[in-house]
Amino acid sequence: MTNQSSRMANAFSEADLAALSAEERVLIERRLKVLGRPYKLFYQRPVHAVRASDVWIYDAEGEQLLDAYNNVPCVGHCHPAVVQAIATQAATLNTHTRYLDDRILDYAERLLRTFPGALDRIMFACSGSEAMDLAIRIARIATGGDGLLITENAYHGTTTVTAGISPCVSGFEESSNVVRVAVPDVYRQGAANATEAFRQNVAAGLAQLKQRGHKPCAVIFDGIFATDGIAIDPTGFTAKAIDLARAEGALYIADEVQPGFGRTGSSMWGFQRHGVTPDMVVLGKPIGNGMPIAATVMRASIQDAFSERSRYFNTFAGTHVSIAAASAVLDIIESENLIWNCKTVGDYMMESLRHLRARHDVIGDVRGAGLYIGVEIVESQASKVAAPDLASRLVNALREANVLVSLEGRAQNVIKIRPPMTFKRTHADILTERLSDALSACRG
Ligand SMILES: Cc1ncc(COP(=O)(O)O)c(C=O)c1O
Repeated sequence: MTNQSSRMANAFSEADLAALSAEERVLIERRLKVLGRPYKLFYQRPVHAVRASDVWIYDAEGEQLLDAYNNVPCVGHCHPAVVQAIATQAATLNTHTRYLDDRILDYAERLLRTFPGALDRIMFACSGSEAMDLAIRIARIATGGDGLLITENAYHGTTTVTAGISPCVSGFEESSNVVRVAVPDVYRQGAANATEAFRQNVAAGLAQLKQRGHKPCAVIFDGIFATDGIAIDPTGFTAKAIDLARAEGALYIADEVQPGFGRTGSSMWGFQRHGVTPDMVVLGKPIGNGMPIAATVMRASIQDAFSERSRYFNTFAGTHVSIAAASAVLDIIESENLIWNCKTVGDYMMESLRHLRARHDVIGDVRGAGLYIGVEIVESQASKVAAPDLASRLVNALREANVLVSLEGRAQNVIKIRPPMTFKRTHADILTERLSDALSACRG
C-alpha cells in the first residue's frame, strides 16, 4: 500500500475490466454500485472464490487455487473442528458477556497462560482495529499522555484513531500527536547497526513529540513489521528503542494481528522473538479462524487505571460462538503441532526460495520467520533498486498459475507469502516451482 496515491498494492484496476468474462464484469459493476470504490479487489484478474478447504480456495469455474496469502484461516480454511464448534455453540447459546459463563473464562485463562506472567488481563473486541483503539484509549488514561510513536509505513486499523496511525493507507493525514520512525532496512544497510539505528530513530521521534508538546503514551510496533516490508532481523533490535520510550513514560503496545498465534515458528507471539515483554498486546485476524473476534491483553495495573474511569461493554465481542471458534483454534494449534509446522515448512520454503535467488538476479532478498516470508524483488542483486512493476507482474503471473500471494512494503516490491499455518512442504514446492516459471516468463 502507498500513501502517494489511491492505488493499493496488487489492486485490480478498472482499466482491465474489458479483459474479464461477462459474469465477472457484472459482479464488479454491482460492487461499484453498492459498495463503491473504497472496496478494492486483488489481482489483474480478480478471484471469484466460492468455497475453500485447508490451503485451497476454489473459484466459480472449479479451479483450485493454492492459498499462500491468508493468515485469518490460520488452522486452514473451514477446518472441520472449528466448523463443528461454531455450529454446536450456535445451536446452544450465543449472547453477550453480561451473563455468567465459564467458557469465556476458560478461554481467557488458557490464552493468558501463553503470555509472559506479567500480562494477566484480557478484554475482547470484534476486530484488530477495535482492539488497538481500546489499547490506545487505555494507554492514554494509564499514562496521562497522548503522543504515539509508530513506524513509517505502519498499518493498525480502520477506526478514526487507528486510521490516524496507519500511514500505509492512501489519504493518511499525520496529526501532531503521531510521529513516524523508520524501521532499519537490513537488506540494504546490514544488520550490524540496526539496533542502534532504530534506537536513534525512536529517540528522534520522542524528541519530536516533546517539541510538539505531546507527552508520549505509547510506542506501537507490529511484531513482524509487515507493512514496513517484513523487517524481522536481527532478533532483539527493538529492545533498546523500547527501553528508551519506557524511560520517557510510554507504554509498549505490541500489534500481534500479523505474527500472532505461532506463525513465526519459534513462539506463540511475535514480540517474543525480540525478547521484550510488552505492556499491552493486540490480537486479531487468526484468533477465531474467521470469526469476528479480537482482544487486548495487558497488565492488570494498566487496566485498573481504566476501570476507575470507565466500564466496558462491546455487544458482539466475546460472544459464545466466537469463543467456541477461538477455543477450537487453540486446540488445533496444539494438536496439529502448527507452530512446529510453521518453523519446519517455513525454513524449508525459505531455503528453496534462496536457491531460486541464486538463479534469478531479480530476487534481492528472501527473509522471514516461520510461515511469514518476504521475497524482495529488485532490478538486480547488485543495484538493490526496488522493482515494484516486476513484483506486481510476478504476483499476477502466480495468480494465473493458481497460486495466491500479494505485495508488501513501502515500495510495494516485497512478495508476501503468509499461508494458513497448515501449509506443507508439497505446497511450498508448488509455490516455488510456479514462482520459478513466473520469473522466467516475466523476464523473457
Ligand atoms: C498489523 C495490523 N494491525 C491491525 C489490523 C486491523 O485489524 P482488522 O482489520 O481486524 O480491524 C490489521 C489488519 O490488517 C493489521 O494487519
